[in-house]
Amino acid sequence: MNADAAADNHEDATASLLFDAARRSADYLGALGRRAVRPSPAAVAGLATLETLLPETPTDPAIVLSELDALVAPATMATAGPRFFGFVIGGTLPAALAANWLAAAWDQNAAMASVTPGVARVEAIALGWLVDVLGLPATTEGAFVTGATMANFTALAAARHAVLARAGWDVGADGLIGAPPVTVLTGEEAHPTLLKSLALLGFGRRHIVRLPVDSQGRVRADGLPPLSGPTIVCLQAGNINTGAFDPFAAICGPAREAGAWVHVDGAFGLWAQASTQLARLSRGVELADSWATDAHKWLNVPYDSGLAFVREPGALPAAMAITAEYLPTAGAARSPSNYTPELSRRARGVEVWAALRALGRSGLAEMFERNCRQARRFAARLAGAGYEILNDVVLNQVLVSFGAPQATQRVIAAVQEDGTCWCGGTVWHGRTAMRISVCSWATTDADVELSVEAILRAARQAG
Ligand SMILES: Cc1ncc(COP(=O)(O)O)c(C=O)c1O
Repeated sequence: MNADAAADNHEDATASLLFDAARRSADYLGALGRRAVRPSPAAVAGLATLETLLPETPTDPAIVLSELDALVAPATMATAGPRFFGFVIGGTLPAALAANWLAAAWDQNAAMASVTPGVARVEAIALGWLVDVLGLPATTEGAFVTGATMANFTALAAARHAVLARAGWDVGADGLIGAPPVTVLTGEEAHPTLLKSLALLGFGRRHIVRLPVDSQGRVRADGLPPLSGPTIVCLQAGNINTGAFDPFAAICGPAREAGAWVHVDGAFGLWAQASTQLARLSRGVELADSWATDAHKWLNVPYDSGLAFVREPGALPAAMAITAEYLPTAGAARSPSNYTPELSRRARGVEVWAALRALGRSGLAEMFERNCRQARRFAARLAGAGYEILNDVVLNQVLVSFGAPQATQRVIAAVQEDGTCWCGGTVWHGRTAMRISVCSWATTDADVELSVEAILRAARQAG
């Protein structure tokens, strides 16, 4: 066989494999709304077939793909479907999924603009659009990371660098040993991953000042102590249980006047900024110094994808930039690795760009507002049937109690087993509750009705 014929064969085999993957993916997604949301015990048990020793010899890629499809696809949770309401997950917009495939084919290492100019440019443009739609200050710089945990870590690394630099200490060069003490404050209801991010930065849990919160988990502005010296105040847009927002306008002013850095964990709640209807909830959030959010949750792009934003130009690169003779990161174009903890990384921003491009400002607002309306619908229907809603449903999170803790747990188990939809549990201020988190582009009002009926059925049987 000559070189041209070999290349043609290779192209044919690659193309048919990719078409096969596309067909299997489309079949999977097409059937998702009709199958049980949770995988069957038999499908999960079937995964044991994969437990073999490392193959000694190659396998035809077509067989590799068919094995994955036959064994793993049935064992997936239907989080990409319209009736998964657990945690805060979200699905994947078709444009974002397709862009993800394309970007995977490009296989760009999105570290350096001079080496991968196409994706670096797309990411820079997407960041500009995000700053716009999220109503952040025009000076804001950002970074694409894996999720809100790393977005908090990245923004807080910039915060740590900046507050210590103002105190005359270079944390990048000298570390934390012997550094001026930094006071770090968070609400009692901060997400545990925020505390983890702080711990990774050397701010141990025992040294964090916890601010009192109200019945919805909002930091109480009157609980803010007098601030002095290097200080970082961490606030939250969207409590994981209630969806509530901290009072940014009341806290950002005094905190920043005292020289503190204000950071906001807005893993899903920051997206309220993209809707004029919802932005009253996040009023004043733009007064902070840095923000973290997820794209894989409410923006509905594929896992994993988070976003860190920092108001002060240069503060993010001050904490993140690296230089080495062999790395061509200098130049006029924004080089992504100057902003992220990683050097090498995939071009996550491509899917974010595609989601923003496909929805536009009005499509984004419609998706967020629809999910909030659907959350209110869940609450109204369940309250109407006599069950207690434990939170003020201000955003897309609903907490419902079915009576005693064991009764609520039985209902959650019955809902998951039934498979029409999937909801998880929590304990909110001592009360056991079922959590309903509405954050998928794919959820229709009919899906909400089907799910309400399934929950009420489970409650009647198990309550
Ligand atoms: C408020 C908040 N912060 C942080 C996180 C962590 O996000 P991730 O799992 O994307 O790292 C979550 C996850 O639900 C969250 O709700």
